Amino acid sequence: MVEYNISLEGKTILVTGAAGFIGSNLVMRLFKDFKDIKVVGIDSMNNYYDVRLKEERLAKIEALGRDWTFVRDNIANKACIERLFAKHEFTVVVNLAAQAGVRYSITNPDAYIESNLIGFYNILEACRHHSVEHLVYASSSSVYGSNKKVPYSTDDKVDNPVSLYAATKKSNELLAHAYSKLYNIPSTGLRFFTVYGPAGRPDMAYFGFTNKLREGKTIQIFNYGNCKRDFTFVDDIVEGVVRVMQHAPEASPKSSPKGKDLGIHTSDPLMYGLLKERAEEMRKNPTEAESILWNALKAKELGVKFRRQHIIEDFIVDFYCNEYKVTIEVDGKYHGTFEQTKSDSERTARLIELGYTELRFTNEEILHDLDNVLKKIKTFCSGTPFPLGEGWGEAVPYKVYNIGNSSPENLLDFVTILQEELIAAKVLPADYDFEAHKELVPMQPGDVPITYADTTPLEEDFGFRPSTPLREGLRKFAQWYAEYYKM
Ligand SMILES: NC(=O)c1ccc[n+]([C@@H]2O[C@H](COP(=O)([O-])OP(=O)(O)OC[C@H]3O[C@@H](n4cnc5c(N)ncnc54)[C@H](O)[C@@H]3O)[C@@H](O)[C@H]2O)c1
Repeated sequence: MVEYNISLEGKTILVTGAAGFIGSNLVMRLFKDFKDIKVVGIDSMNNYYDVRLKEERLAKIEALGRDWTFVRDNIANKACIERLFAKHEFTVVVNLAAQAGVRYSITNPDAYIESNLIGFYNILEACRHHSVEHLVYASSSSVYGSNKKVPYSTDDKVDNPVSLYAATKKSNELLAHAYSKLYNIPSTGLRFFTVYGPAGRPDMAYFGFTNKLREGKTIQIFNYGNCKRDFTFVDDIVEGVVRVMQHAPEASPKSSPKGKDLGIHTSDPLMYGLLKERAEEMRKNPTEAESILWNALKAKELGVKFRRQHIIEDFIVDFYCNEYKVTIEVDGKYHGTFEQTKSDSERTARLIELGYTELRFTNEEILHDLDNVLKKIKTFCSGTPFPLGEGWGEAVPYKVYNIGNSSPENLLDFVTILQEELIAAKVLPADYDFEAHKELVPMQPGDVPITYADTTPLEEDFGFRPSTPLREGLRKFAQWYAEYYKM
């Protein structure tokens, strides 16, 4: 299990696609779980499907009366995204805004490039220039294309997308990886597997089937119903997103085991000797000030999480951040002996030789203006790419997980349960002749008979796997549908 390293309480969160199916559920859940949270939502309210649904979802959020700001705009509008990030200090950004759907991409490819590529790029750039602690973004099970091996694992090769939609989602993962690596932006991509639930998307099969059955039309069931799919209830997806939001992946390089304790890493023998000496010395007798600063200024955190504590006495702090090649020196009187001073300056000289930039602060600045010191460090680091050479920052703060039910359901069973629940919710009459309204047809070209998620990594890291039984989820959908369409 991973440890949560981000507290959402008291923080500001950006949710893109907030009027969408998953986005709106996420926002409501955040307000439910966290007493003191500010959520900013952005959505273009496009008419890919009935906009009234999006408006209703927003109205439900609004009715909670919480610290909620909604911006109706397009994430492809760079100036708007920049303004938003400059105005709010987002701790976590959850990017759900996207043009979804596979078939629509055949007639409307522009929408995918605009939202999924340009929009996502704008989000990445904004995360780069404003220190966001974690970017969580929606990917999709569609990246598995027509892979034959099941269950689908995040270790599988996914280089053969079979739709523009899938290609954009895979591109998101690639772009996120590059940004995580270059600019140390912790990012987690989530590959969702067919999400369903109340106020869901009308373009999806279960919703479309329901509309057709209600209108007395016939539904087509492919491969004679012998397809197996993961259907994931929206609450399970949201549960997964909320858990994942609270843990930013870490990038600690795997070099010296000694250095790891203190977040010091080097592959240089001279440096290692000096650092080892230093680490041991500090472990023996750290001043309170040193402990606070070491903790506050660990490479991965870069001051983002630092909270000012009480008075800091005289001290020396040497802080190395290999990822950014910067050494931060703070003058002090703690190490008074000549040898120590010498080794400090030797080490600094060696670091500079190795291409580090030295940032120097005085005790005065640390004591009285720590916020500004941290700001200067962050400003220096943001926009400075990680060196790509061997030995430096090899591990990237980047993760991708599957979120799916990992218990595939037979399509025919799915449709049968749906029909039963639609009857129970009075969407369909009790004597509905289901057989007359379904047509079993062969497989469509390119379709895969069975797809489902391997969610072991999610379970191992977050102690959670989606588990809402299909009947329970479809019941909630049917009841919502009956209410929404006033049956
Ligand atoms: N629902 C699923 O089964 C499923 C499966 C896999 C992945 N996903 C992904 O999850 C995310 C959320 O999906 P959803 O089912 O809630 O879809 P949705 O269409 O209901 O929500 C997406 C929202 O984003 C908005 N949007 C689209 N382009 C935008 C843009 N350029 N700027 C601002 N807003 C924009 C839309 O208006 C919509 O409200 C998407 O990224 C989708 O690709 C969904």
